[in-house]
Amino acid sequence: MIFLKKYALFLLFSLLWIAMDCWGQYTPAVSNGYPDQIVLNISENLATSIAVSWRTDGNTGSSTLQIVRDQSQFNIADSAETLTARSELLDFKGIRTWHHSVLIEGLVAQTTYAYRVGQGEKWSEWINFKTTGGPETTLKFIYFGDVQANIKSLWSRIAKQSIRTLPDAQMVLYAGDIVNRGNNLNEWEDWYYASGNMHQSIPIMPAAGNHDHGDSDTGVYGISEYWNKQFELPKNGVMGLEGTTYYADVQNVRFVVFNTEMFNTYEKDKDNQMRWLEEVLANHKQRWVIMLFHHPVFSTKKNRDNVELRKLVKPLIDKYKVDLVLQGHDHTYARGKERVPMDGKGESHAAYVVSVSGPKMSEVQEADWMDCSASFTQLFHGVEVSQDKLTFSSYKVNGDLLDAFTILKTNGINNIKH
Ligand SMILES: [Fe+2]
Repeated sequence: MIFLKKYALFLLFSLLWIAMDCWGQYTPAVSNGYPDQIVLNISENLATSIAVSWRTDGNTGSSTLQIVRDQSQFNIADSAETLTARSELLDFKGIRTWHHSVLIEGLVAQTTYAYRVGQGEKWSEWINFKTTGGPETTLKFIYFGDVQANIKSLWSRIAKQSIRTLPDAQMVLYAGDIVNRGNNLNEWEDWYYASGNMHQSIPIMPAAGNHDHGDSDTGVYGISEYWNKQFELPKNGVMGLEGTTYYADVQNVRFVVFNTEMFNTYEKDKDNQMRWLEEVLANHKQRWVIMLFHHPVFSTKKNRDNVELRKLVKPLIDKYKVDLVLQGHDHTYARGKERVPMDGKGESHAAYVVSVSGPKMSEVQEADWMDCSASFTQLFHGVEVSQDKLTFSSYKVNGDLLDAFTILKTNGINNIKH
């Protein structure tokens, strides 16, 4: 009898535990075939191509994209071209969702298009986007450091203010740690909520941080299960690190994104990325080079030091004259150029920036290489790149300018003005 009572109690607690766990779990918002999580992704050449990705529920296994250039009339659907999406099922943690993507090619530079995604009677709204221009045009983009915490309640302010301050931004860059737990769908949902419709009309260029990684259902450590389902990034990176290593030539800039978490975790991923970095930094004809990655070459905090990045990657930054290095991870702001340690080899060509956009923050440990720093301040940045000038501006969450610098390029030499 006592055994039965104990068994009944155990059963009751187990049921309660399961019920509580279920209450806390994500319930897919898409249950009726309508698309959501619509994202514009950068492509290898944003002047003539762009990638779109979106999600539907577990019962909607195929979807399409419609695109039209002439949008002066209300009945734009009549002249739209329809493209069939590549669709993949994600069955993870008991939740089934379909993820769709299309790479749109053959676009005309500096032209506004309208697109929508869906199927049958279930469509998104029509959404405008504009292709970028040629190398002679000025590029404007937003850069965010780590998002990671209180995404819905506090990071959302920075997202909305960034668009108010920089309404003509052509891309949005993230230096990683977009969420705190890469395989937690609730946190990604918070990020979609907080960013509003920003990523539907401005292409995203994300780098992956340590928190964007996690264990798969089979216990294999790697990039979040959601990352390559929800993003459709250029497939020109390292084999096995697709979606977290890639490059893109936008206007007059070569952007190079790589995965410092896997660089730090596995020797193979370090070696492969080093070979790939050498290749993509050496072989291009762009006037400017900007690198985007998570762990900083020069840390801004005590007890954090990425020695291997400094030993292996910094020589490539110097050798191939990278102009700007955008990083995150340390939850502070700092930037420097003229006093960056160079072992007696002159002045650093590259300017280094570490930043944070979310409310998880730390105090800067001041160091000689820094020209400017800030602690406990949520920031977003606007960057403008023309033929001979790069302007970098740092804004607080209320839109006030905190810091700015300009790099002037003359005969291949970069001079900074504060
Ligand atoms: Fe991090």
